[in-house]
Amino acid sequence: MKFIHKNSRISERIFKKHIGKLSVYFKLLQEVIDRNSYDYLESSINCPFDRNTLGKVLEMANKKSSAKLKYIIVIGIGGSNLGTKAIYDALYGHFDILENRAPKMIFLDTNNPVFIEKLGKLIHSSKDKNEFLINAISKSGETTETIANLEIVAKMFSKKFPKSLDRFVITTDYQSKLWLIAQKKGISTLAIPQKVGGRFSVFSAVGLFPLAVLGVDIKQLLNGAKLMRSRCTHFDITKNPALQSAIILYEYYKKGLEITDTFVFNPELESLGKWYRQLLAESIGKEKSKRGKKVNAGILPIVSVGSTDLHSVGQLYLGGPINKTTTFVEIKKNWVDVQIPKKRRFPELAENITGKSALQIMTAIMNGTKIAYKKRNLPFCEVVLDELNPKSFGEFMQFKMIEIMLLGKLMDLNTFDQPNVENYKIETKKLLK
Ligand code: PA5
Repeated sequence: MKFIHKNSRISERIFKKHIGKLSVYFKLLQEVIDRNSYDYLESSINCPFDRNTLGKVLEMANKKSSAKLKYIIVIGIGGSNLGTKAIYDALYGHFDILENRAPKMIFLDTNNPVFIEKLGKLIHSSKDKNEFLINAISKSGETTETIANLEIVAKMFSKKFPKSLDRFVITTDYQSKLWLIAQKKGISTLAIPQKVGGRFSVFSAVGLFPLAVLGVDIKQLLNGAKLMRSRCTHFDITKNPALQSAIILYEYYKKGLEITDTFVFNPELESLGKWYRQLLAESIGKEKSKRGKKVNAGILPIVSVGSTDLHSVGQLYLGGPINKTTTFVEIKKNWVDVQIPKKRRFPELAENITGKSALQIMTAIMNGTKIAYKKRNLPFCEVVLDELNPKSFGEFMQFKMIEIMLLGKLMDLNTFDQPNVENYKIETKKLLK
């Protein structure tokens, strides 16, 4: 993965100005690595190196997979499903329905009766419980949406297939209430390390297990993350993309650019952009600083998809206020390309596409967009992923998780809590009493 920041227009002097604030934090990150434990809030950076978890995940995946398996139903919300969905959508997403490929993934996050009813029909019409695997994921084990969906699916499933608890796997904090109940009922469980927060948990059993059952090469995913951990915990601004990116976001935030756009030029990366959206929003959007001062801090993460969104929000981006930073995300090696037919049926239209391929057109649009951004002095960075593969996702996700830790530190925020989200959860529980 390459991170290019020359068009961010942030000088060496600015980088140097902020680096000092992070020297102690880099020592802490090194300590987290050296101890190789789960005792720190930053311990998610040790997940890619956790062989014990990898072994347990692969063993469970092996046990629960079967040639008959058609659907993995992932029940979970926020940090419990967004990483898995990002990778599934990137690899199979939009057109999975057309392919004779199994298993497919179905995500139940919110309590949408329409989706649940459709799932009910699917379960009802199938003949074998082994066509399904249900993975309910909740770190706290108490999230209303997740538990409600689990209850409904468990009921639908047991009605059709009595004695089918072996088709369920619960991923949650060790010893959470959900963990204890699952153990009591004899349901398989996988543990999330206690200090690894939901949005930082994609390299724990949260993401690894469903992806392993799906057939994703999770070792490659972790290899990408490992590589990026060593680059991003290096206290050297010239070599560390997470440090560069965090300082760029911070500097522009201070100048009033309170929006950041992840602009992907491969539509299949939209969910990856949305995974980052949650990571940034929940970590950096805070009412109070770490010292308890009211700050109402935050950077609004948005996701744009090229070239689709140039035809919806492009005008605003290029003509409206300069209020955001942008990170263009592209893939270096796209393995598939399609030629515009040599003998054209509409040769009078869009003449300059003659002899070109779909990729050439997309590349021209992307580069044209970057030139237009430059001309308007809109600051941007570029991420170039090597290929659409698990290793690249591992690199990108680890890069972004460390970037957010550094950004939180620069902004003096508690990156790892989400007290205001808890407020709505508490109010919802009260209303449902
Ligand atoms: O990142 C987070 O911590 C949150 O988005 C949680 O993942 C989300 O609220 C779901 O919580 P839980 O996994 O406890 O069900």
